[in-house]
Amino acid sequence: MTSPLVVAIDGPSGSGKSSTSRGVAGRLGLAYLDTGAMYRAMTWALLQQGVALDDPGAVAAAADAVTLVSGTDPLDPTIHVGGVDVAEPIRSDEVTGSVSLVAAVPHVRELLVARQREVIAGSDGIVVEGRDIGSVVAPDAKVKIYLVADPAARAARRAAENGGADAAATEQALAARDRIDSTRAASPLVQSEGAVVVDGTHLTLDEVIDAIVRIVDAAP
Ligand code: DC
Repeated sequence: MTSPLVVAIDGPSGSGKSSTSRGVAGRLGLAYLDTGAMYRAMTWALLQQGVALDDPGAVAAAADAVTLVSGTDPLDPTIHVGGVDVAEPIRSDEVTGSVSLVAAVPHVRELLVARQREVIAGSDGIVVEGRDIGSVVAPDAKVKIYLVADPAARAARRAAENGGADAAATEQALAARDRIDSTRAASPLVQSEGAVVVDGTHLTLDEVIDAIVRIVDAAP
């Protein structure tokens, strides 16, 4: 059995990973997995249960019982926790504000990385977006992209997504989340070996998708 084509797209919050990854998957006829949504869904589930998210032992103990199911259609990516559609609530400020704590717990990462590898292995080719895809989840991915954009552009994008929220405050919140994601002990956000850096600061979404599709097409 040959292994499926895997396109790993890592990068910091607000770099445009989700729209880009879905666009690349759509153009190439590949499946799509949003691993950030899985960390968010885990966070949502633990908040529902009243677990103290600043207690890594409590988070690890409660995480085992959470059942996540990710749909991989790039036109309609879905995420369910115990049968409940959580696509909307996982984008709430409450989840966004605490997901970094949950994502820093090694046992949560073990559980979700194992689940991600199952989804990848069961696919016929997939674009996977996250922070540790090229470094940990799929180090053998045929194509690894590290998608960046300058902080002001990332904040402007996130603020627009959030209905015109304050860009300066959004930039600060993004910087705080990046700091936690990049400095945590377990699988920090890193540019993995062999990753191609794509800077989307001055490109439209279509231009970023084009650039990545060209990189995939040129891959040996
Ligand atoms: O991409 P996002 O904003 O939806 O990610 C939510 C959080 O999950 C973010 O704080 C980083 C974390 N994350 C992670 O640690 N590893 C991944 N592969 C994906 C996301």
